Amino acid sequence: MILGIESSCDDSSIALMGLNLDLIYHKKITQELEHSKYGGVVPELAARLHTAALPNLIKEIKPYFKDIKAIAVTNSPGLSVSLVSGVSVAKALSIALKLPLIEINHLVGHIYSLFLNSPVRLPLGVLLVSGGHTMVLDINENGDIAVLVETSDDSFGESFDKVAKMMGLGYPGGVAIENLATKSTKDRYKFTIPLKGDSRLEYSFSGLKNQVRIEIEKSLTNGNKDFADIAFGFQRAACEHIIDKLSKICNQRKFSSLGVVGGASANKYLRGRLLEICDKFDMSLLLAPMEFCSDNAVMIARAGVEKYQKGNFINLNDLKISPRSSLSSIYL
Ligand code: KG4
Ligand code: ZN
Repeated sequence: MILGIESSCDDSSIALMGLNLDLIYHKKITQELEHSKYGGVVPELAARLHTAALPNLIKEIKPYFKDIKAIAVTNSPGLSVSLVSGVSVAKALSIALKLPLIEINHLVGHIYSLFLNSPVRLPLGVLLVSGGHTMVLDINENGDIAVLVETSDDSFGESFDKVAKMMGLGYPGGVAIENLATKSTKDRYKFTIPLKGDSRLEYSFSGLKNQVRIEIEKSLTNGNKDFADIAFGFQRAACEHIIDKLSKICNQRKFSSLGVVGGASANKYLRGRLLEICDKFDMSLLLAPMEFCSDNAVMIARAGVEKYQKGNFINLNDLKISPRSSLSSIYL
């Protein structure tokens, strides 16, 4: 089996996956509560919590030590102090148990969440919507990844987090905004869709966030703290922006399958809109199981299985963290 370790942001997670893709163990300790009062992830706090959590998780899998063939660990991208925690644990275990190391790009890990217990099927279009990234990817039959669209400012998930913070809903904001939007009774807020009619293939959420900020302030001035209608209008505009640029791409190239990954891919309104676009462009929609949309070590172990089978290991001294690395020159 392969041990997967994930600590790129605010979740400490480890998983054991058999080479036949059986999931043997998975546990995740999330730090949401601790960061919630600050309205976002505090790196120093995240690092301290990883350092406390990871050794306890490793203790739990001691009975399996003899069956582990390699250690796969997220080393990019992410918060540097968080990545270091997982990579240090991986290196210590590698020395103690004499096991090879496998480096995993977190974004590649998310893509593997589509294939946790099945072989990878390529080629594939991918929409990656997380707290750190918003991208459309084109993965060819060899696994080469081309980034077609990125965000020029906030990511999709981050915009939910920031709007939630403005509304006093804590961190992370995605689920809170989605739930609040279901309570909307009046379709009052028609926010401008970012870059609509603009030929640029890029995402941008900061302008939308500012439109929302103005409406929240107006509402507060009027003594109204019920933001359900604003949440609904915001979620619709943010999802419409995703669909608008995705449609432009689909008009230019044909994907037979579209995979949607990342924490924000759990958003049900977005999933509904994606079903429509897949129908329109005759693509099959691939989704990760709900519980594995957000960060987890299962997807890291799954990516590790693939690299193990290809003999793709990294020396202990060459394994470094790379907080900003993107997907250029990375393949599946
Ligand atoms: O993939 P992930 O767990 O971490 C990163 O790699 O960034 O994604 C977390 C992000 C957060 O911004 C969170 O607010 C967002 O995903 N998110 C959602 C939903 N669930 C999580 N955004 C919108 N709707 C949701 N239901
Ligand atoms: Zn992630």
